[in-house]
Amino acid sequence: LAINWQKKEKQVEPYSKLAFIYDDVMLHVNYETWAKYIGRIIKKYNPEAKTIIDIACGTGSFLLELSPNYPFVYGMDYSYNMIRNAHEKFYLYGYAIPIWQGNIREFYLKKTVDVVLCLYDSINYLTTLEDVNQFLHCAYENLSNPGLFIFDICTEKNSIKYFNNYFEKNKKQEYHYTRKSSYNIKTRIHKNIFKIQFKNSAVNFLEEHQQKIYYVNEMIDLIANSPFTLIDVLDGFSFKQGSENSLRVHFVLKKE
Ligand SMILES: C[S@@+](CC[C@H](N)C(=O)[O-])C[C@H]1O[C@@H](n2cnc3c(N)ncnc32)[C@H](O)[C@@H]1O
Repeated sequence: LAINWQKKEKQVEPYSKLAFIYDDVMLHVNYETWAKYIGRIIKKYNPEAKTIIDIACGTGSFLLELSPNYPFVYGMDYSYNMIRNAHEKFYLYGYAIPIWQGNIREFYLKKTVDVVLCLYDSINYLTTLEDVNQFLHCAYENLSNPGLFIFDICTEKNSIKYFNNYFEKNKKQEYHYTRKSSYNIKTRIHKNIFKIQFKNSAVNFLEEHQQKIYYVNEMIDLIANSPFTLIDVLDGFSFKQGSENSLRVHFVLKKE
């Protein structure tokens, strides 16, 4: 019997349905290499670090890579379904990594940690500088002394070069999805609209993701006015200086 993929559409919260196909959509990302890179940064700037929290950890791929190398790793994410899938993955791989639902802007840990991470342009989901500022303060409060905060952003160059009027589609046996991306140079909002069609679902799902693109210099200014010391601005996955010419920039901040 032919499958009917054309169904009514229902708008849902970001990541509520994408969560179930997220790891497939992210297959191009080499989390192992990324985690090794982050490991080198930690070794350089906080070699004694033992406790790490990955904020906006998604389905926990990073945590799985970090776990063998650090005795205490934790995760937090806003999306219940992302957390649920992370749990399942940890169980499958035999890891017991504590992970819970929470918001970037406001989180309080019972014990401070040595490193706070927020990766894969998760910080771009905060659409105002005030929110980013709130996150900086929150990260600071939850860090031990010395402590390291590492986060990344996608640059405007990345949005313009690769994702303005970008379209992607993928068909699997159990689901189909399309992704439409656009970038508004005036508002600096990068939009991704995912249409997700599950074979066994009565409706198709639409998720609209909005990310704010920040300039490297505006981040540097914000950090200068925060309690942190900015120790590195890195281009992509290198130890070279990051700039507007980079596609991704890692910021390394120290509490000391
Ligand atoms: C692009 S994904 C990155 C996930 C993960 N870091 C990775 O590398 O695969 C962005 C994540 O940010 C989370 N997120 C967005 N806004 C958030 C918020 N305000 N608080 C916590 N997590 C948030 C989403 O739920 C999603 O899992």
